[in-house]
Amino acid sequence: MTGIGAARAFGSTRRLVAPVGQGSWKIEDSSAGSAVAALRRGLDLGLTHIDTAEMYGSGSAESLIAEAIAGRRDEVFLVSKVLPGNASKRGTIAACEKSLARLRTDRLDCYLLHWRGAHPLQETIAAFETLVRAGKILSWGVSNFDVADLEEVAAIAGAGHPACNQVLYHLQERAIEHAVLPWCRRHGTALVAYTPFGQSPAPFDARTRQGRVLEKIAAAHRATSRQVALRFLLRHPEVFVIPKASSVAHVQENAGAAALELSEAELASIDAVFPRARPPRGLPML
Ligand SMILES: NC(=O)c1ccc[n+]([C@@H]2O[C@H](COP(=O)([O-])OP(=O)(O)OC[C@H]3O[C@@H](n4cnc5c(N)ncnc54)[C@H](OP(=O)(O)O)[C@@H]3O)[C@@H](O)[C@H]2O)c1
Repeated sequence: MTGIGAARAFGSTRRLVAPVGQGSWKIEDSSAGSAVAALRRGLDLGLTHIDTAEMYGSGSAESLIAEAIAGRRDEVFLVSKVLPGNASKRGTIAACEKSLARLRTDRLDCYLLHWRGAHPLQETIAAFETLVRAGKILSWGVSNFDVADLEEVAAIAGAGHPACNQVLYHLQERAIEHAVLPWCRRHGTALVAYTPFGQSPAPFDARTRQGRVLEKIAAAHRATSRQVALRFLLRHPEVFVIPKASSVAHVQENAGAAALELSEAELASIDAVFPRARPPRGLPML
């Protein structure tokens, strides 16, 4: 049996961060009250890694998070992202200042390039380093980077960079296990799994073979299929998951994944019904 409840080192930052965090894409689609209540309940339950981006709701997700973390900033590992179109040297610094203002905080724990765009990586990284020196960000990372992109970051910035790579990873999309995850393991980079429930409800439908396997394992632990799914992704020590939930009930369910213990045989049976496909040509992303 392997338990994963405890906080784990977040890549080269060595900060201890909860394995289950909270996403915020589209949180502004729910009422402000329920989104804020869900985020706060998540903090109560230890889901202290909060992921956002200037892109989400054109800044309104960051504003909602400001409300949720008011008075509790020190509990949170706060992550935001700069859009590739803003990722010039000056643009990155300006985007970060705007995110800090919307989040009503003086620093981000980690700041990410959302995906690779046309601005040279050297410029974005120079801006990140300027922001680190100013204390406005404590670390920086990337998102949607394949191995060749990660190699470029390491060549420019040196050992210990990037702190994390945030990528698409769920039971039906395991492409990152081929090369991106091994790269992160070798370089001490955290791998943050986005969209950890996937883009289809089918794996959680007990009328499917996959759904029945998850449900059987869940029942044996008095857990739920979604908790089992998150726990499967977390079997790698460098992985963090950031499910987005806009209701207290969903947050509570997701928090329960951290304490779940699965046997090697259970992990193997999940692996068998959600097989890793052949390596794709490019890194899958949303
Ligand atoms: N870097 C990138 O390019 C990128 C791309 C996509 C996402 N992300 C980040 O990753 C986060 C997570 O990804 P995501 O939002 O795409 O997908 P997700 O977290 O896999 O799924 C979110 C959906 O699952 C539902 N849900 C959450 N907990 C549930 C539960 N316990 N039972 C039933 N349904 C539940 C949510 O509903 P309710 O809202 O109703 O609770 C929502 O509809 C995002 O919010 C964002 O912060 C990053």
